Amino acid sequence: MKFINKTILLLFGCSIFLSCEQKKKDFDWESYSQDPVIEGKVDSVLSLMTLEEKIGQMTQFSGHGTLTGPQINDDFKEYLEKGQVGSMFNVFGAEGLRKLQEQAMKHSRLQIPILFAADVIHGYKTTFPMPLAESCSWDLELMERSARIAAIEATSAGISWTFAPMIDIARDPRWGRVMEGAGEDVFLGNEIAKARVNGFQGIKSYKDFGDIHTMLACAKHFVGYGAAEAGRDYNTVDVSDRVLRETYLPPFKTAVDHGVATFMTSFNTVSGVPATGNKYLFKDILRDEWGFKGTVVTDYTAINEMIPHGYAEDLKQAAEKALNAGIDMDMNGAAYIQNLKKLVDEGAVTEGQIDVAVARILELKFLLGLFEDPYRYMDTKREAENTMTEAFLAEALKGAERSIVLLKNEKEVLPLAENTKKRIALIGPMIKERKSLNGEWAIKGDRSKSVTVYEGVTNLYSNAKFSYAKGANLMGESNAKEIQKAVRVAQNSDVVFLALGEDFNWSGEAASRTDIRIPKAQRELMHAVKKTGKPIVLILLNGRPLDLSWEDQNVDAIVEAWYLGIKTGDAIANVLAGKYNPSAKLTMTFPRNVGQIPIYYDALNTGRPFDQNNPQDYKSFYLDVENSPLYPFGYGLSYTSFEYSDLKLSSEVLKGGSAIKASITVKNTGKYDGEEVVQLYTQDIFASIAQPVKQLKGFQKIKLKKGESKKVTFDITPDMLSILDINNNIVTEEGKFKVWIAPNSSIVQNEAIFSFKN
Ligand code: BGC
Repeated sequence: MKFINKTILLLFGCSIFLSCEQKKKDFDWESYSQDPVIEGKVDSVLSLMTLEEKIGQMTQFSGHGTLTGPQINDDFKEYLEKGQVGSMFNVFGAEGLRKLQEQAMKHSRLQIPILFAADVIHGYKTTFPMPLAESCSWDLELMERSARIAAIEATSAGISWTFAPMIDIARDPRWGRVMEGAGEDVFLGNEIAKARVNGFQGIKSYKDFGDIHTMLACAKHFVGYGAAEAGRDYNTVDVSDRVLRETYLPPFKTAVDHGVATFMTSFNTVSGVPATGNKYLFKDILRDEWGFKGTVVTDYTAINEMIPHGYAEDLKQAAEKALNAGIDMDMNGAAYIQNLKKLVDEGAVTEGQIDVAVARILELKFLLGLFEDPYRYMDTKREAENTMTEAFLAEALKGAERSIVLLKNEKEVLPLAENTKKRIALIGPMIKERKSLNGEWAIKGDRSKSVTVYEGVTNLYSNAKFSYAKGANLMGESNAKEIQKAVRVAQNSDVVFLALGEDFNWSGEAASRTDIRIPKAQRELMHAVKKTGKPIVLILLNGRPLDLSWEDQNVDAIVEAWYLGIKTGDAIANVLAGKYNPSAKLTMTFPRNVGQIPIYYDALNTGRPFDQNNPQDYKSFYLDVENSPLYPFGYGLSYTSFEYSDLKLSSEVLKGGSAIKASITVKNTGKYDGEEVVQLYTQDIFASIAQPVKQLKGFQKIKLKKGESKKVTFDITPDMLSILDINNNIVTEEGKFKVWIAPNSSIVQNEAIFSFKN
């Protein structure tokens, strides 16, 4: 398509960790949209289309499944009969989708198939841990595999486009959508964006989009959605261009570099302009700087929301602004379908602008092979064969075990061997809870199929004696009788497994909280059980970092299990028993209380940094709580212990165009075989722009047998130390750098200094 810009690859975002040269090879964008065969087909269909048909292609209609906003556009049937449905979501199943597609083929004058989409976020039928949990595995291959499996299941059921991955950096646990992302860190966010895009799409070139199990991925939400003020969903965002470019944009750039086919706008404003009408974001950055050639869809009714934002007078003007910003498809808002023709007639927009958008949409349909066979994703036999297979379920268990973070384990209360004869009290509303286990955004996961904590634990521990009390509901007020019963159960036990948490509706979209403690009734239950003096293993099922200050002081072990999906109970039981030695580490900081938010490890130092070991007044600190978090980024325990020693640099001077090696010896000094996430951090001590106190630059997840040592080595290259200078150029400045290799972001032992000279 001649009207689509040629790739202009600018340097921005290339590589905190890889050079541009390396990245470009990861996906062949160069020839995308320039394939003469596809281009010819698109142009020939386009040349036959009426304006109304074109606008229909730019409209995405919701069926009647999950709604995440007002159902504005409920009349898809009317448009279906006119052959004007470009895309649909919230409709499921090979058989049902085939029927809709048949209607489209019958009524569409030019036989243009519908592109079916869905929020396939952490699994389709086989539910995997919620994305934040899974990110805590620091296991990129595992994340890629779970996305691949989701793609196989969904494409076998008729869906060839997912609204995932959500790659918003998130630093405010009050915001319910932190559960959908990869946490607070840019480096890890980039790596995970790449893993998930590769997982869903599984291809290296646009030519492979037609592989039957390739599902178009969607990088969302562009951009800054995670920075909602005070963690209130959809709230105002105020980020400087620097923070946008340093923190929020990089995962999106990574997604482009790895061939993500589509982008979704975000609900928020950026510098006062709603993202969905923001030319700077979608034209200047996404298309011109980064060379993105795929399709942009709005978030749910986001064009309409320009009116309450105070940015458009009416829907017509909102549609004009969205089109002018380069937004190709309107999700469920009817803004385009009701207004674009008028806007063309009035000369406010051109048909040429519409052609650009429609060409992008048709191109995807051609690449997916939908024009050749509109029903190719709708084969009920394939759907049955590829749904919840033994292999998928085994992978779900693996993923769940690897996402559980052990936050505390005193007096070695865990692991509790599976042949124990102890009396175990199972207490708490999460013990038998089933509905919440998949977490939010598991739209097709059957909530009645997930294994409860009760089932997992009682299946595994065949010699233990169990007693059970719910003790409290997940929400609402406490009940004294229920608590008394739970106390009696605890008194007659040797150890208490106390399972608490948030109802799954308490995280996800439109699920912000100002109090991020365990809900009140459950806390009261916990306080009562504590008084029995029995050892307590607290098992948490929740969607965000919580304030666990009381728990940290008062229970013996804390197992952060998040929402783990279909295999929840089995995975938890395996971890409690030490059948799987926990290896996950936090990807989002746990604050001491809500007043510390936003709190993240790669903060700036300030001009008056506070030193906990040498406290002084008029420094940057709180009077009522220490600066440090309760559990830092990168933190998580194992049943074994690891000792880090002998940090060495191959040279104290790094020269331009070369690399130095930083190595450390890690020894398993405990009683069990285990896995450790070894983390590399650096700091640019002095630069033309103030830099964070430390930044993650690499990690390796290693396995060590009991007593075993390993030397872990990282290459440090000038690229990895680059910063964004005052003119937004990526540069590596000469000077001194600190380096740490550590088990988490708060550890400052094993530090070395080197200089960079060009
Ligand atoms: C969410 C998106 C989602 C869309 C469609 C919106 O409310 O913000 O992330 O993809 O709904 O369900």
